[in-house]
Amino acid sequence: MTNQTSDSSSLAALRARSQQVLRDNDRGGYTVPSAKLYPFQWNWDAGVTALGWMSFDEPRAWQELRMLFRGQWDNGLVPHIVFHQHADSYFPGPDQWGVPHTPPTSSISQPPLLATMVRLMLERAADRAGAEAAARELLPKLVASHRWWYRERDPAQSGLVASFHPWESGVDNSPAWDAPLAVVPPATRTYQRRDTQLVNAAQRPHKAEYDRFLALVDLFRELDFDGAKIYAQSPYRVADFGLNAILQRATLDLAALCRQYGQAEGAAELDAHAARARPALLGCWSESLQQYVSRDLITGQPLERRVHSGFLAWYARLDDPRHDALLRSSLAGWLERAPFGLASTHPDAPQFEPQRYWRGPVWPHFNWLIAEGCAHYGMADLHDRLRDDTQRLLQGAGLYEYFNPHTGEGYGGDNFSWTAAIALHWLDSPR
Ligand code: DGY
Repeated sequence: MTNQTSDSSSLAALRARSQQVLRDNDRGGYTVPSAKLYPFQWNWDAGVTALGWMSFDEPRAWQELRMLFRGQWDNGLVPHIVFHQHADSYFPGPDQWGVPHTPPTSSISQPPLLATMVRLMLERAADRAGAEAAARELLPKLVASHRWWYRERDPAQSGLVASFHPWESGVDNSPAWDAPLAVVPPATRTYQRRDTQLVNAAQRPHKAEYDRFLALVDLFRELDFDGAKIYAQSPYRVADFGLNAILQRATLDLAALCRQYGQAEGAAELDAHAARARPALLGCWSESLQQYVSRDLITGQPLERRVHSGFLAWYARLDDPRHDALLRSSLAGWLERAPFGLASTHPDAPQFEPQRYWRGPVWPHFNWLIAEGCAHYGMADLHDRLRDDTQRLLQGAGLYEYFNPHTGEGYGGDNFSWTAAIALHWLDSPR
């Protein structure tokens, strides 16, 4: 067999395996991220997973998003988990969150990439009429969710929205949250984690972090999920650069969708939010780390940690002649530090742990988000490196949740939906 034939047959095998993972994780219109570890529908997982479904079943792709929006609250919040059906294998379940909604949901959100996924799905759609109808149906729900972010999470109109829980960042135990989480009084009640029964505990967050994750869940319930009270009383309030970058990109995409569908007023409102956010986001630059960083909104201090979300600037269409060459060289250097990039924490950082969830492992969908930004600004070398590293990981180890950047070993959940979705999306993208 020539190399080319063996490459194309192994890419065909990756495609077939990825499609099978999505089918196996389908629970009748929504996709669980991983059969036992995450047996419900997650917000940003659903967005990425819909993009994967788009590669081989367009009606099913749109259905993924329709199902997620069944969990949307009247105030616009799109929760980070929608508990469509009962399952015992996850903690904290709906009884812990205590949200009076049908279907039950969590009380926090997640990085809002849905509008961007809708725009990408529309661009890819073969069934134009089906896609247009779905996008029109989703548009008011997306607008309501962006209004919720700006109204509830940036009442002072600073340009940066707040997150109240590390789970809201999607990068739960990132070293970036060590300092703001340390001041949260831990929960003292007993509880039984399920994740460490399913996955090696060395690959998951520590108990000290879970005690605080849970204390925040309890606090939000005690405050009746009242956004103003939580804003005033939450001991954890962070301007997460990654979440804000993802929101910024989604707002630009949503404004474009509004224009496309004749909603000029909605587009103008979203443009104004994006214009306010841009200087605030560029102001997150760290001279000492040569990348963008998050900020603790309680102390006002920048969270100077070398974590990969700082490279989402280009995905958010944040270019800046003062920073771009420096950021590019930080990213290139980071990729050189491990054969299977991009490590979620810089391998030279003291907090780096190559196996522990968001403290070092490589995450395929994050690679794709960063690579998408690189491609937009003409950095094809960095884009291709991220794509090729990701494909090598998936072909070598399988469709795991995350990977050791040094050895390429797969960790966390196996047969993971958004990993499969990214494999499919990248296989369909022109080289
Ligand atoms: C988990 O349970 O690990 C999730 O990331 C929380 O959303």
